[in-house]
Amino acid sequence: MMSALSSVSRYGRVLVFDSGMGGLTVAREVAARAPELELIYVADSGFFPYGDKSDDALRGRLPPVAKALVEACRPDVFVIACNTASTLALDEVRAVLDIPVVGTVPAIKPAAERSQTGTIGLLATPGTVRRAYTAELIRRFALSCRVMLHGSVELVRLAEEQAAGGAVSLEAFRAAQAPLYEAEGGDQIDTVVLACTHFPLIRGELAATVPHPVTFIDSGEAIARQTLRVLPAGLTQTENQTGGRTVWLTSDPKAHLRLVEVCRRFGFRTVRTIDVTNN
Ligand code: DGL
Repeated sequence: MMSALSSVSRYGRVLVFDSGMGGLTVAREVAARAPELELIYVADSGFFPYGDKSDDALRGRLPPVAKALVEACRPDVFVIACNTASTLALDEVRAVLDIPVVGTVPAIKPAAERSQTGTIGLLATPGTVRRAYTAELIRRFALSCRVMLHGSVELVRLAEEQAAGGAVSLEAFRAAQAPLYEAEGGDQIDTVVLACTHFPLIRGELAATVPHPVTFIDSGEAIARQTLRVLPAGLTQTENQTGGRTVWLTSDPKAHLRLVEVCRRFGFRTVRTIDVTNN
């Protein structure tokens, strides 16, 4: 996939933020298009997972953490590579930062355009499924479709385990996504929105365990393109930044060895920690 893309020389520092490993699926899309960018990957490991947190807890967490990260890392663009966070607090994060912020929202529009049956599935965290923002996207872009939603914390857990090389049985993936297709009308679903950045990590496993063939759509590519669009023009190459890849965790990396290992496989080999509890 990556080799088919034409990459461009763009310089600057982009911070890609998620609760855990999911945002790596967005970071790799950015890196594939602009390999010279310095990328900082942040996993909010101290607050993972986001999917089952209350709206208030996440609203209280995200703006100060984003601010602390921007102060510490000085990126040119801040990418919230997380549907659960973006659909809740994109505006709040934008309000405390003075750099471009790119959010990640469910790819409902392309799914609606693509569906032949007019029935779309949406796999996400429970948080994303209940958001007014998600309902509004459906109202705006998929009014003529039937959109069936399934929120699963388990799929996020399975994605992290599978990405880290754990022996997850296919049966676990089948069972975790089954409620989407077993609900009335679920047999008509032909297009499924992967509305959690963790899920492209397990696209193969999901595809292997659907009850009937469907097309999976995610937002990774669109976010990468938007990131390059808002990246300030004219940033120049600085020797020790170019192509740099650093991962920052918000808790002790020793407690997150799987996460560190997966980040390393995605090219993020230097690990740093930031204490966000005082912010
Ligand atoms: N990767 C995140 C998303 O896109 C959520 C994972 C979590 O529950 O922390 O929604």
